[in-house]
Amino acid sequence: MSTASKVTFAGSLVFAAGSFLFINWSQGLERQALRQGPIKDAARMEAKRTQKMVANEAEHREQMELRDKLIKIQPLSDEIIRGDEAPTPQLDQK
Ligand SMILES: *[C@@H]1O[C@H](CO)[C@@H](O)[C@H](O)[C@H]1NC(C)=O
Repeated sequence: MSTASKVTFAGSLVFAAGSFLFINWSQGLERQALRQGPIKDAARMEAKRTQKMVANEAEHREQMELRDKLIKIQPLSDEIIRGDEAPTPQLDQK
């Protein structure tokens, strides 16, 4: 085997190995990117769920505060208030 053919042979071995490694590496990247899709989706949905829960809690707290405030102004009772002191004005009927 001549020196030139040995060098060519060695070069093609290195090229083949390099090609394999590059393809292997790029396929690994692609696979990882594909796997990130559902993971990101799940994270997005979880974030949305948490955000909604926080908003609901804030709304609930606000409503309870408003309720306390209104109860201080007018306490709740079972008493039914009837408006029979003055008759309701009748509208003109033509
Ligand atoms: C890279 O090569 C190794 C060894 O053949 C293999 O186990 C692995 O699955 C390959 N990776 C990809 C992304 O193809």
